[in-house]
Amino acid sequence: MIISIATQKGGTGKSTTSISLASGLARIHGKRVLLVDMDPQANSSAVLIPDYPSFAQNSEDKTIWRTILKRQSIPIYETEIPSLFVSPSHLLLSNADIELTAARDHREARLRSQLQKVADEFDYVFIDCPPALNWLTLNAFSASDKVLVVFSPGFFELSSINQMLDVLDEVRDNFNPNVELMGFLLNMSDNTNACRISLSMMQNTYGKRVFDTAIPRNTTLREAHFQHTDIFDYDPKAISAIAYQKFIEEAFIDGQE
Ligand SMILES: Nc1ncnc2c1ncn2[C@@H]1O[C@H](COP(=O)(O)OP(=O)(O)O)[C@@H](O)[C@H]1O
Ligand SMILES: [Mg+2]
Repeated sequence: MIISIATQKGGTGKSTTSISLASGLARIHGKRVLLVDMDPQANSSAVLIPDYPSFAQNSEDKTIWRTILKRQSIPIYETEIPSLFVSPSHLLLSNADIELTAARDHREARLRSQLQKVADEFDYVFIDCPPALNWLTLNAFSASDKVLVVFSPGFFELSSINQMLDVLDEVRDNFNPNVELMGFLLNMSDNTNACRISLSMMQNTYGKRVFDTAIPRNTTLREAHFQHTDIFDYDPKAISAIAYQKFIEEAFIDGQE
């Protein structure tokens, strides 16, 4: 199953969720997982590839850049987490949008056409999307079975969600009829009015599409990233680790075995 993790707003927790779901399914459930980093900011790559800055130096052709811009195979690297693999991103991927806008061939299918060749080797493929509705995100949605929307509390955070669902509809109509909305995951939940209002607005609009499990605001997640590791390795008893584990059960394990 191929799942895009998206919202066009930055900082809602897409990369954090990509890393946590991928590492949790690999570590706790023994699944074979690939995390494809489609964000030129390469946050997931920087956590999962040891010494990413030297890895990336003058080496865009070792990253997903080559797949999107050169139509070459998907780069797949082992991580320090057993059965978790990563397709790293590169800052130069930020030029991709301009180049793809000018391209005339199947510019939405660069990722899909290569990912199809390797997807069978994995139980789950997660695509960490950039915070933008651009050709990189269209490539991710075109390659996906499902899109998981990560939102965090706040007026600005919520107001962009509609636009993203419109893009998902466009992709379904034009490029990939099979892609489905998986649902909405609240991240950075806390005990504030803003959070309660955000959650009830989302539940009123999208009902059962909003997952029961929410991920609490928890700085231990940030510490884990500083240590270039995932929350299950850094502090499996952290409230965010417990919440991600619960979310994995809710969204991936329950009812599937
Ligand atoms: N639940 C959380 N509690 C506290 N900090 C978080 C949480 N989720 C993410 N963060 C931190 O917030 C920042 C933005 O998260 P990130 O995953 O990079 O968002 P995005 O990929 O959507 O831009 C990062 O520094 C990350 O470590
Ligand atoms: Mg990110």
